[in-house]
Formats: sequence, C-alpha cells, structure tokens
Amino acid sequence: MTEITGRTAVVTGGGSGIGMGLARELARQGARVAVADIMADKARAVAAAIREAGGEAIALECDVCDRTSIRAMKAAIDGAFGPVQLVFANAGATSFDPLVEMSDDDVDWILQVNLHGVMNTARAFLPDLIAGGEGHICATASMAGLLPGWIPVHAPYSAAKAGIIGLMMNLGLELAEHGIHTTSYCPGGVATGMKDNNARYRPARFGGPGEGEVHVTEASSVAHNHDFYTPQAIAPMVLDAVRHNRSFVFDHPDQRAHFRRTYSAVVEACYDAADEWHARHGTPEANPHGARLVGV
Ligand SMILES: NC(=O)c1ccc[n+]([C@@H]2O[C@H](COP(=O)([O-])OP(=O)(O)OC[C@H]3O[C@@H](n4cnc5c(N)ncnc54)[C@H](O)[C@@H]3O)[C@@H](O)[C@H]2O)c1
Repeated sequence: MTEITGRTAVVTGGGSGIGMGLARELARQGARVAVADIMADKARAVAAAIREAGGEAIALECDVCDRTSIRAMKAAIDGAFGPVQLVFANAGATSFDPLVEMSDDDVDWILQVNLHGVMNTARAFLPDLIAGGEGHICATASMAGLLPGWIPVHAPYSAAKAGIIGLMMNLGLELAEHGIHTTSYCPGGVATGMKDNNARYRPARFGGPGEGEVHVTEASSVAHNHDFYTPQAIAPMVLDAVRHNRSFVFDHPDQRAHFRRTYSAVVEACYDAADEWHARHGTPEANPHGARLVGV
C-alpha cells in the first residue's frame, strides 16, 4: 500500500484539469501538496483553493521541459515541506496536426513536455524517494499511447505517451526493491481546459506562448466524440490505484472493446507472421541467418 495521508505530494500541471483534480483530492485525503505549473497564476489559484478548504498547499512556477526549473521547484518544496513521497508527473500538451505539417518546434515541444517532462520530474525526486524507502511515481500518459488508432493524426503525442508507459513499467521494476511503485494513468477522455489552454503554456523556446484553441482535425474530433469525465470524478479513482500500487489506471469503459480488438489482433498478426517465417526457414537454431533463441 502507498500511504497518502500525511505525505508530501507534487503535481506537475497542477494548475488545471486533471492535475488540479489530483491536487485537490490529494489535499482532501490529507497530503501536503505542491502545485507546480508553467502557468503560475493557475497554480496559485489551485493552492489557494486548497488552503481555503483547510488543506496544506503551495504553488510553484515550473517548466517541466527545463531541468533547472525543476531543480528550483524541488528546492522550494524541500524548503516548505521537506522530501516528497508522491510524485504526479502530469503536465502535458497536445497537438492534432499531421506530422508532415509540424515544424521542428512543434515536434520538439510535444516530445519534450510529454516524455522528457515526465523523465525530468521523476529523476529530480528519485534520490529522495529512494533515501526515504517509500513513495510512488504516477505519470499521466494517455490511451493514445496504447491505442494508436483511437485518436488519428496524433503521432508525436502518441509516441511520447507510449514512451511514458515504457518508462513507468521499467522504472517500476528498478524501484521495487526500494519500496517505490509506479503507475501509468491513461486517461481516455476527461473534460479539461486542454483545448483552450494548450497554446498558452507553450514555452518560448518552442515558439510559444500563443493564443487560441488547439486545432483538431476532423478525424480526431470524430474519435473524441464520446462522454467525458470530470477531473474531480476521476481523481479518487487514480489515487485508489496509487494506494494499491497498481501499474495502470484506465478510466474510460468505452475503450475496453477497442483495447481487446487492438491487442488480440497484434498478438495474432505478429505470431502468425513469426510462425510462418520459422516454417519457411526452419527452426531459429537452424536458420541460415544465424538467428538464435537465447535465454532471457
Ligand atoms: N483530458 C484528457 O482527456 C486527456 C486524455 C489523455 C491524456 N491526458 C493528459 O493529461 C494531462 C493533463 O492534461 P489536461 O487534460 O488536464 O489538460 P490541461 O490543459 O487542463 O492541463 C495541463 C496542465 O499542464 C500544464 N503544463 C503544460 N506544459 C507545461 C510545462 N512545460 N511545465 C509545467 N506545466 C505545464 C498546463 O499549464 C496545464 O495546467 C496531460 O499530460 C495530458 O496529455 C489528458
């Protein structure tokens, strides 16, 4: 079990949407919460609302793409609350443009904020988690990382979110001996400010910030046409998974059938192709290309 009450949590992207829901729920369950966000005013508003409700919270401006900014954020939390036990690497941004039309800055930003941002955040807090011998890292990935066909025209975002899942699964194995666990939260549709906010939180070195709603292609908007949860409804479910050290949280029942279709098709197609290859070329031990099955 991962304890939440009495622990210190950091939530990146805590100023809005899913992160705001997590920050409020963490405080409601008795954690001290550091709300970190590139939009400092939003982080301050969330921390103030938590304090007004009787919880403990501080707000910090932080760009998760920037390691110096993350180190400063961590130092400020250490000064206010001491070491962190619960890390919610949630900050992210989206893009629904065809890859061929995206600029270098577009692609770099999406990969940096969604994948490197989680990596940077996890690495900053790892030494303290290990030293404390307890804790949890929960990264907000996406169903887009597991179901590439769910949202078309979403290539760098899907790649980054799939990367988060690999990162959390592998890191979970590395950290198990230290009593630390990891979770990939894979939202499948939560009503947040992402469409309106997205351009505003683009860092200057990737060509931001800007204004205006994120552009959604017709194919993507059809895929997105289902019921959305609210962040406050989903947060207790995510924290329950964290408490029970579950590796994944899937929040949307509509995606169950899609998931089953995708993965049974992948398994069948891949193994059928491999069986057919072995049948033509002999067993792997005997094949002329020297492939060997080695113990793993
Ligand atoms: N809403 C959904 O349906 C959905 C689905 C799948 C995944 N997600 C993921 O959930 C996470 C939260 O998104 P949301 O839907 O709540 O959107 P949101 O726009 O409401 O929140 C994103 C937050 O991240 C912050 N942020 C962005 N770039 C940052 C940076 N460089 N450094 C620090 N903070 C930064 C923003 O300021 C904002 O407060 C993201 O990782 C997103 O990819 C959301």
